[in-house]
Amino acid sequence: MIREVTESGLVGRGGAAFPTGRKWQATAARPEHPHYLVCDADESEPGTFKDRVIMEGDPYALIEAMTVAGYATGAHHGYLYLRGEYPRALRGLEHAITQAHARGLLGDDILGQGYAFDIEIRRGAGAYICGEETALFNSIEGYKGEPRSKLPFPVEKGLFGKPTAGNNVETLVNVLPILTMGAAAYAAIGTEKSTGPKLFCVSGSVARPGVYELPFGATLGELLALAGRPGNLRAVLLGGAAGGFVRADELDVPLTFEGTRAAGTTLRSGVVLAFDDTVPLPRVLLRIAEFFHDESCGQCAPCRVGTVRQEEALHRVLGWTGADAADDIALLRDVGRAMRDASICGLGQTARNAVESAIDRLGAYE
Ligand SMILES: Cc1cc2nc3c(=O)[nH]c(=O)nc-3n(C[C@H](O)[C@H](O)[C@H](O)COP(=O)(O)O)c2cc1C
Ligand code: SF4
Repeated sequence: MIREVTESGLVGRGGAAFPTGRKWQATAARPEHPHYLVCDADESEPGTFKDRVIMEGDPYALIEAMTVAGYATGAHHGYLYLRGEYPRALRGLEHAITQAHARGLLGDDILGQGYAFDIEIRRGAGAYICGEETALFNSIEGYKGEPRSKLPFPVEKGLFGKPTAGNNVETLVNVLPILTMGAAAYAAIGTEKSTGPKLFCVSGSVARPGVYELPFGATLGELLALAGRPGNLRAVLLGGAAGGFVRADELDVPLTFEGTRAAGTTLRSGVVLAFDDTVPLPRVLLRIAEFFHDESCGQCAPCRVGTVRQEEALHRVLGWTGADAADDIALLRDVGRAMRDASICGLGQTARNAVESAIDRLGAYE
């Protein structure tokens, strides 16, 4: 299983694009036991809703994929950390877990094959930071949802200090077609570096918002054509609140990890948020800054203070342009650099991304 997943080229769909096979191999190889499997279903990034659609639509696929991942990594217990505001997904998953037990698909002796695996659902309580995997471990363990130091890696010391493989919902369900069609056939979908299909969460100024599945490598323009691109499109925020803007004249950017990186933006978990020219951009940037200020866990100073300073500066420049805004824009860059370089976790490191890309790429406040 690990060989197939590795050769398929599957990388994580939760934002960091880490190779899944390598994570599984590293967990399986650890001599300490027990091992744990954690499914990250916290999905609290603004504009992200693909995992909800998977879990509401086919909870059995996730149960099967978690069982496969548990088997491959040597885990007998899986935690499913579910966003608190997903009551419908919760009902479906609880029902599916009960059914799976009744049919011998979960429990002490799965399908009489001598492998034991069970899944426990833990509900989040509304904190975006608890989607960060080490904060998520703390939350499951009953501590404050604050990220831990990245070293040692979770595959060595993760949940309860034991080797842990943590994966996103979409990553896990992709394992099922890999095992049924084989690694080579899966790797033939998409591009060489971004293999397989990808779910994109399209929202904002489009006629048909929703989750769209396309092979990696389709262009942003092709995706927006499916969703009903407005004639007066101004910009698209790729990758969500921590992502970057592209202009309406840049829609040929390929939707791959490498293609978006080369274009100076990012794909992250697949958020595609469209803005037409009636949307007040400074207000949108302020809302993003408010989000990061609200969601910063406060553990480290660059993020705790920086997200507040960023929001204050954006409040001041709301409605200002040109020379009036120049001092605050210089301050935003300075604060942004400090957050990027000195924050403990991805939240603080990326809290400036959208603001900076709106200034550099869209000429916000000019
Ligand atoms: C602030 C923050 C929030 C995150 N939220 C989520 C989330 O809701 N779901 C998710 O799968 N990953 C989230 N991540 C990424 C996880 O830390 C981790 O990289 C991911 O779950 C690994 O799974 P994957 O390799 O399958 O992508 C978040 C990261 C950060 C920094
Ligand atoms: S970067 Fe922000 S969210 Fe992350 S640990 Fe520091 S204060 Fe908490």
